[in-house]
Amino acid sequence: MTQLNILTIKLPPKTEQKYDIIIGSMLHKKFDEYIAKYTSAKKFLLVTNKTIWNLYKEKINISNSDYLILEDGEEYKNIQTLKEIYDAAIKNKIERKDCLIALGGGVIGDITGLAAATYLRGIDFIQIPTTLLAMVDSAVGGKVAINHECGKNLIGAFYQPKLVLSDIEFLKTLDNRQLKTGLAEVLKYAFIEKSCGCPLNYRFFDFLHANKDKILDLDNKTMSQLINICCNLKATVVEKDETEKGLRAILNFGHTFAHAIETLTHYTIYTHGEAVAMGMKMAFKLAILLKMIDKDYALAANALIDKYELVSTIPDFDSQKFIDAMILDKKTESEKPRFILPDADFSVKMITDVDPSKIACSLKPNL
Ligand code: NAD
Ligand code: GLY
Repeated sequence: MTQLNILTIKLPPKTEQKYDIIIGSMLHKKFDEYIAKYTSAKKFLLVTNKTIWNLYKEKINISNSDYLILEDGEEYKNIQTLKEIYDAAIKNKIERKDCLIALGGGVIGDITGLAAATYLRGIDFIQIPTTLLAMVDSAVGGKVAINHECGKNLIGAFYQPKLVLSDIEFLKTLDNRQLKTGLAEVLKYAFIEKSCGCPLNYRFFDFLHANKDKILDLDNKTMSQLINICCNLKATVVEKDETEKGLRAILNFGHTFAHAIETLTHYTIYTHGEAVAMGMKMAFKLAILLKMIDKDYALAANALIDKYELVSTIPDFDSQKFIDAMILDKKTESEKPRFILPDADFSVKMITDVDPSKIACSLKPNL
């Protein structure tokens, strides 16, 4: 086993709430031990999907746990599947002191977290993320949700897990596209690092430049470091602004564009990460048009995104439809799209009042 990284998220002192994120390889061999150390639950319901279960059922053996195996796909992150989790919890006599376990990517983590937040007015849950996106983003920070037919993540809560167990071993069965979608969120942290307010100066941008081959080879030590840096940056932000009153919005760098891309392409053409990678390029172009950064930084940022081959060709979007889609996003305020844009190297700022002609121009992000 590579060295373990353990970091603690401490939430606002009022609630005295904190939890650990444990990162390492082959953690699954000791799941029982970690879980016993961090909860007093006597009974567990592990929620996962068919794909993950088929890959890992021989390796996952958690004492006193029942298992609920859901269908795989974003289209199942809905109220019917949420009810399936409640039904299974009731059938398996899960009580208030018991615990749900989410074994999966962001879909399983989000829906299981929402079930935990609401079942019996809230029971404990543990996140065991199995995608890179979940390890660096969705399993950390307590946003839990399901989709509504009118939009993504419209029904949800802020509800923190008791523990996050990130076993790098899971990444080895991800296909290249799923790995890249996680890497888009990883690169995002490089571009927002200074705004996170983390006392450690990782120079994550340089780390990503220097370690591309090891990262793409999923080298254990490098991936452990990478996930640790992302989680630490996210933890710093979430500790300061758990419920996204302000600072936490920086974690949505590139996402205003990405959500419009996903909406206009009906979530069928691009993965979330592919849309985020395009969205980050558009954000850099818009920042140049608004004279917020110099071209050299934007060129360097684009070069990093290209080094990881996160974006192929960007389609010609109809700018009016694009802006309309941005306005429909749930993070819009007073019908104006809200952008997180770079304002200096590795630093970002929220901007709301942007001339639509400049937004239109940023949709072709070549510099
Ligand atoms: P996902 O959960 O759909 O997983 C992607 C695919 O990979 C699925 O087919 C899944 O079955 C498969 N998979 C998972 N682990 C695997 C493994 N180890 N090996 C092989 N295949 C595996 O997608 P995702 O990208 O992990 O998450 C996207 C979801 O996360 C979206 O619903 C998004 O809204 C949500 N999200 C939430 C937050 C948050 O803060 N809560 C942040 C970002 C994204
Ligand atoms: N993924 C953005 C957030 O957690 O706030």
